[in-house]
Amino acid sequence: MTLLALESSCDETSAALVRDGKILSNVVSSQIKLHAEYGGVVPELAAREHLKNLLPVARAALAEAKISAPEIDAVAATQGPGLAIALLIGFKAAQAVAFALEKPFLGINHHEAHLYSPWIGAFGRFQPNVSLIVSGGHTMLVLVESELKHRVLGGTIDDAAGECFDKTGKLIGLAYPAGPVIDQLAEQGNPNAFAFPRPLLHDANDDFSFSGLKTSVRYFIRDHPALLDDSQKVRDLCASIQAAIIEVLVKKTVRAAKREGVQCVTASGGVTCNSGLRKELERVCRQHGLVLRLAEKNLCTDNAAMIGLLAERKLLAGFPPTALAEEIQPGWALA
Ligand code: KG4
Ligand code: ZN
Repeated sequence: MTLLALESSCDETSAALVRDGKILSNVVSSQIKLHAEYGGVVPELAAREHLKNLLPVARAALAEAKISAPEIDAVAATQGPGLAIALLIGFKAAQAVAFALEKPFLGINHHEAHLYSPWIGAFGRFQPNVSLIVSGGHTMLVLVESELKHRVLGGTIDDAAGECFDKTGKLIGLAYPAGPVIDQLAEQGNPNAFAFPRPLLHDANDDFSFSGLKTSVRYFIRDHPALLDDSQKVRDLCASIQAAIIEVLVKKTVRAAKREGVQCVTASGGVTCNSGLRKELERVCRQHGLVLRLAEKNLCTDNAAMIGLLAERKLLAGFPPTALAEEIQPGWALA
């Protein structure tokens, strides 16, 4: 089955062609530079960029896959969650393509697509797992009992992990999004230089909270302003913040996996690009005899390939197509 998928839930415009579990093309146009000036995503600007970029991106994806429109068997798009004004563009365009080609259409939950992205290229080796989804908007632990059957165990009660990277980075004066910059600086920093809280680490639930950590970094910088003029101290600060975030994410993920009796842990979403998080998950999973599957770095951040591949598996599993009159679901929570 050859599918065309579109993704426009936030600040990446993406189109992909997938077939039989494989990615034929996955073109992503990122708006990061545009929004960096404002320190965060500006919805109105995001929408205009999606409108401008969607057709060129889709054309490039078709060309790279060497697929012409009549060869498309089904169309998919992100239906939610995300910015309404941004979601609308990819979702309505995909419905229009499905209408014109008279092919089935499937609306996909963005988080569900992240959830299965660690299995891209390896669906045949699927095993029950506890999955960590960490992005700029969400931090979640999900029990995946079997393919396409999952249950959310917990999530953040305030800021997402990526948001914590971005907001503490802003306090340090780093450019948006600060996550990748902190990752880089932390590599040459001492993670034990400064002690920051590990929120909810010892709570019995699978929830996360990162706003307190952000506040404690704010007060720390207020009380030690000269520290920001010393580049080694900035690296130490980045390493210490990153260590606090990682410890909570890794310990709570592994604890949930042990409790649920699964042998596998997976992770996806933008923050899964973080090299410290990848290393620590590897170390702790090895220590506990757990199989670890991390989404490939280029599939961690938002992309249409993960949308198309999940849509293909759902259609093959007999899920009903989404009506062409259906609307976006900006607040669509993963159950
Ligand atoms: O999944 P994603 O592309 O978009 C959302 O759905 O939110 O994730 C973006 C988030 C941003 O907060 C960004 O700072 C973070 O992922 N991020 C990282 C790294 N790369 C991206 N955080 C820490 N280390 C990284 N290397
Ligand atoms: Zn995402």
